[in-house]
Amino acid sequence: MKSIKFFLQYIFSPRKVGAVLPSSGFLADKMIESVEFHSARYIVEYGVGTGVFTDKIIQFRNPRTIVMLFESNKVFYQSLKERYKREANLIIINDSAENIDKYLEKYRIPYLDYVISGLPFASLPTEVSNVILNKTRKLLKDGGSFITFQYSLLKVSLFDQYFEHIDIQREYRNFPPAFVLSCQNNRISTQWKRCE
Ligand SMILES: C[S@@+](CC[C@H](N)C(=O)[O-])C[C@H]1O[C@@H](n2cnc3c(N)ncnc32)[C@H](O)[C@@H]1O
Repeated sequence: MKSIKFFLQYIFSPRKVGAVLPSSGFLADKMIESVEFHSARYIVEYGVGTGVFTDKIIQFRNPRTIVMLFESNKVFYQSLKERYKREANLIIINDSAENIDKYLEKYRIPYLDYVISGLPFASLPTEVSNVILNKTRKLLKDGGSFITFQYSLLKVSLFDQYFEHIDIQREYRNFPPAFVLSCQNNRISTQWKRCE
């Protein structure tokens, strides 16, 4: 049922949805593998779709952690609202991740520990990707991570412009097989490097 709903949204809006099927549970596991759930206070997810990554985040999060979801597609958003209506400390936004800063201010969230992204950067307009990545980099705390997946490594240079360290892992048990990119900036160590 979820797959049919997802496929229909792909037919209506292929560039924005960016995949014909939702991600697998295997990919979801790899996306959250490096998240330190006990200490994370603020986690944001971009491009939630049917909630494959969200289910894992909710399963493992500290109940006090505030989770904010961004999904620009109205049909997906309505299902997410229904599906997670009993979850505390979960904010669901029906808007583009380009406006992340506006919502953090509105909900008084001072910084982000992790951003988990399902956004289809390979098919999004470059300007949209740049706005999202630039704001994300600034909002992540020092040592925070931006975690995304890609079906190829063609766009690595895009993430390279915003993050100093990118760890890449492969998940074959997904259709299509995907790369998980964990991107970090460590501003303190950058300053040290500059002083040397
Ligand atoms: C490739 S799907 C990934 C869905 C889900 N995370 C998964 O892995 O199955 C991309 C999702 O990003 C959403 N999306 C596209 N552009 C967006 C934007 N600018 N802001 C928020 N969501 C967006 C689409 O509607 C779609 O649900």
